[in-house]
Amino acid sequence: SWTADAFVDTTVASLKEKLGNSHVIMALSGGVDSTVAAVLLHQAIGKNLHCIFVDHGLLRKNEYEQVLESYQHMGLNIKGVNAKERFYRKLAGVSEPEQKRKIIGAAFIDEFDEAAHAVQAELPEGVEVKWLGQGTIYPDVIESVSVNGPSATIKSHHNVGGLPDFMKLKVVEPLNTLFKDEVRRVGKALGVAPSILGRHPFPGPGLAIRILGEITPEKVRILQEADDIYMRNLRESGWYDKVWQAGTIFLPVQSVGVMGDERTYEHVVALRAVGSLDGMTADWVHLPYELLAKISNEIINHVKGINRVVYDISSKPPATIEWE
Ligand code: XMP
Repeated sequence: SWTADAFVDTTVASLKEKLGNSHVIMALSGGVDSTVAAVLLHQAIGKNLHCIFVDHGLLRKNEYEQVLESYQHMGLNIKGVNAKERFYRKLAGVSEPEQKRKIIGAAFIDEFDEAAHAVQAELPEGVEVKWLGQGTIYPDVIESVSVNGPSATIKSHHNVGGLPDFMKLKVVEPLNTLFKDEVRRVGKALGVAPSILGRHPFPGPGLAIRILGEITPEKVRILQEADDIYMRNLRESGWYDKVWQAGTIFLPVQSVGVMGDERTYEHVVALRAVGSLDGMTADWVHLPYELLAKISNEIINHVKGINRVVYDISSKPPATIEWE
């Protein structure tokens, strides 16, 4: 029968044999799959695995710093790329959801390609990166459209003309026979932190598709603050682990409020929490009213620019988990 320990042993051994002294480059997203794939590869080839973590400026509050630090802590050979400003510039004035996704996908490839060249440039003469590591899992293989971040971004651009250099690499996907729960068990066997293994799914385009309409750095900041309060309260109340995915959405409306004697006209955020098995269908979660009241008060009292909070009580189908 399948065990995580046996999987780790046989996979590390076969990766060693397959890769030998080769160098592998890989993009990490902070998610479960890419992290576990990287740790496996790292066990097999150590410093010959070169990891790249791109900050597109659309992650949760402090997430880039925290994840980068945990990668360093794991001993991974990781290079962080701060690309916030470049992503914001490319997204300025764009409000159509699919257009945002395309821009982010293309910008991600540009950043990865550049970082890959920098890695190659630092290697000794005659040593070449020949492999691209990916955190692809079995469900990604069977559905042609993957929803798992950078790896999906890379795949969806396979047919674009003028392929970046890293596309000429051979692909190594150590998790492509596993389901999500097996990936978590392998991660646990490898000693990956529970904070990474238990993390909710998070879309590759990140907060870009949770800010409805045009993205500005100011909206990102407001949304990160509100979302941080929501996530902290879910964790402290024990609800985080009972929910499959949760997030905060910045709505493209302003609403009237009063503060003291003054009229305010500010932004609205929606809170979403769903239960699901695979994201294909989802039910909204009946969070306790007391918890929702506490989150709403904290957001309205502490996040400047927000004067109203609503809770999304729609299930999928028809309402998708993300609003864009
Ligand atoms: P929907 O909104 O389609 O989401 O019900 C189902 C799952 O997919 C995630 N999602 C994405 N993930 N890139 C991704 O990597 C995307 O463009 C994207 N859109 C949705 C969503 O967060 C949920 O887990």
